[in-house]
Amino acid sequence: MDKFLIQGGRTLNGEVRISGAKNAALPLLAATILADSPIQITNVPNLKDVNTLVQLIAGLGVTISYKGDTVSADTSTLDNQFAPYELVKTMRASILVLGPLLARYGEAKVSLPGGCAIGSRPVDQHLKALEALGATISVENGYVHAHIDGRLKGGEVVFDMVTVGGTENILMAAALADGVTVIRNAAREPEITDLAQMLIKMGAKIEGLDTDTLTVTGVESLHGCEYAVVADRIETGSYLAAAAMTGGRVKTTHTDPTLLEAVLEKFEEMGAEVTRGDDWIELDMQGKRPKAVSFRTLPHPDFPTDMQAQIMAVNAIGRGFATISETIFENRFMHVPELSRMGANIQVEGNDAVVTGVEQLSAAPVMATDLRASFSLVLAALAAQGETLVDRIYHIDRGYENVEAKLQGLGAIIKRVSE
Ligand code: EPZ
Repeated sequence: MDKFLIQGGRTLNGEVRISGAKNAALPLLAATILADSPIQITNVPNLKDVNTLVQLIAGLGVTISYKGDTVSADTSTLDNQFAPYELVKTMRASILVLGPLLARYGEAKVSLPGGCAIGSRPVDQHLKALEALGATISVENGYVHAHIDGRLKGGEVVFDMVTVGGTENILMAAALADGVTVIRNAAREPEITDLAQMLIKMGAKIEGLDTDTLTVTGVESLHGCEYAVVADRIETGSYLAAAAMTGGRVKTTHTDPTLLEAVLEKFEEMGAEVTRGDDWIELDMQGKRPKAVSFRTLPHPDFPTDMQAQIMAVNAIGRGFATISETIFENRFMHVPELSRMGANIQVEGNDAVVTGVEQLSAAPVMATDLRASFSLVLAALAAQGETLVDRIYHIDRGYENVEAKLQGLGAIIKRVSE
């Protein structure tokens, strides 16, 4: 199992190129199932999760290739609507093929995604929304069986809570439904807007982008197109956090500051100097120790849950203390005991964590538990005195492309060791 060996205590400076967003690439890949002619997606990040979904789509019979940063798909050879447990269990966003398969072929048999470390992550809202469009859905032996005779029917969908995946599944299904669908309490994450923009390029009729109400007028078919994945706002925030953590100056390029304004404001509250360009962001910590900042994770455009672990790591060496409330997932503090092993002072009460900054963290063997927690441990190791061994870094490979090369480019001493 791969580990990272990280020499702490160095200031990170330099420029890092941001990749396409994992959480946009996955729904965009699922949406290729809707196209009745060849479709190309560029700026696709080379990640484990992306390769798993490409494999799953190939398993449907789709002619799909992934060369460089480009995925090309031709669904004319699709010959089944079955997404097996073996693949879905390793990448829960595979549930996003359910809506497209049902909408285009009237049939889908998709394994229920397991939970994961950060929570049970049910998909009840996805199923309820598809039933609102007329689908017959049953869950047997761990699989979702969905069926509709003819086309789905446009209707009204109201989500009980903001769900990114639920919004994406129903948006893709509604695009081919017969009639108008209104999606209320829709998620407003930039990755949803990215998906909607590609669907519109494929011929879909969608209004209300960036709002919590999406109106979709279904069409009979959707054609292929060429589309570039939006920049990864979480990867951007993660590398800017590396500068905040080590007192350095990092410029992230091929990104977009409007995607993560709530995070940039927190960096400024820490005392960092943040400069915004059209497609770049620079964070200069000017050698200072960051001020600890309080926040609550909330749906976009508020502070994203996917940045919670990373900013907690910065708070761990911050001045003063701060309260972090995790309102999205029920178990997203698993990085806390690992950070504590490195000397962090963090008290957890339910979904709230009080972090009292310490002057210095110390190296210790730690273990990654989930994707964003693994980056927070890397951040802590970069600031800690001594050499830290981070275990189970297969988690980080799911969401951060070329992570050690990008960190080495900023001056980090980080090595991947396999034991
Ligand atoms: C997406 O997950 C992201 N993943 C997650 O990123 C992100 O943390 C999350 O949205 C929230 O922003 C991808 O886009 C591939 P949700 P998703 O449906 O769609 C509950 C990362 O680190 N819920 O918005 O699964 C759910 O349990 C990952 O890149 C239901 O109860 O998240 C959670 O508590 C981690 N029933 C909350 O809603 C449902 O049917 C938000 O989940 C659906 C969701």
